[in-house]
Amino acid sequence: MDNPESSQSKPIGVFDSGIGGLTVVRAIRSRLPNEGIVYFGDTARVPYGTKSPETIRRYTREISSFLNNQGVKLMVVACNSCSATALDCVTEHFEGPVIGVIEPGARKALGVTHNGRVGVIGTQATVHSGAYERTLRLIAPEVQVFSTACPLFVPLAEERMEGREATRLIAEEYLEPLINQSIDTLILGCTHYPLLMDTIRKVVGSGVTVVDSAESTADASFDKLQEMGCLEPSNEESPLVQTYVSDNPLGVEKFCRSLMPQERVWVGTAQPTLIYPEVRD
Ligand code: DGL
Repeated sequence: MDNPESSQSKPIGVFDSGIGGLTVVRAIRSRLPNEGIVYFGDTARVPYGTKSPETIRRYTREISSFLNNQGVKLMVVACNSCSATALDCVTEHFEGPVIGVIEPGARKALGVTHNGRVGVIGTQATVHSGAYERTLRLIAPEVQVFSTACPLFVPLAEERMEGREATRLIAEEYLEPLINQSIDTLILGCTHYPLLMDTIRKVVGSGVTVVDSAESTADASFDKLQEMGCLEPSNEESPLVQTYVSDNPLGVEKFCRSLMPQERVWVGTAQPTLIYPEVRD
């Protein structure tokens, strides 16, 4: 793996509770191949989705402070639980633009639904926040939203259990109530869930469009950088993806290679703490 020392202009900062947000990094790299990325995955403290909003907000402040200190030009909150409960914690101290995953995912779903019945799956924190429902209804007041938390999907994704019988059975258990509501669109409201995409698609069937907000978040990042005149000119060499995790990096390197085999990825560890005076809710 390469070393992060090579000079490059300001990177994009991306973070998540664990490795799931690397699915957003992959989408950003394919939309913005000339941009360097600094990613932080809080593998020591994952999952966030079962934690209280107060804890998620504290973690979000710590990580966004760390990425701010790396000199990023744009911050992408690639965690639905943080986007749903703590987006404002990023803007408290980061002066650049901030993009969460909720609005891009909601807009994409509204663009594809035909019957106006949209399912949302996510962590308990995301579903209990009601953030998707609020955002969907704000844009399209007539839409009907059916949400359910799927907490077991996160460990299944982290353990690379895609394609296993146990995963299919759990997916059926979670998704059948939504299918019974005749949804025609399902938002994957958690960045880990695209790692179970094949199973989820099989269980919901071809009549339901599955929306992964990673691509729409990458499009929103492109639009924002273009609007700011901050897009990097083309590079001969693809810039580095600097990946920091808060726990053992060994399995993460392997995961990055399998997810983004064509990318230059460096993996190291970091323990974000607040570098600015603590803000309390
Ligand atoms: N990746 C997080 C999200 O998108 C979920 C995983 C977790 O519970 O930490 O909400």
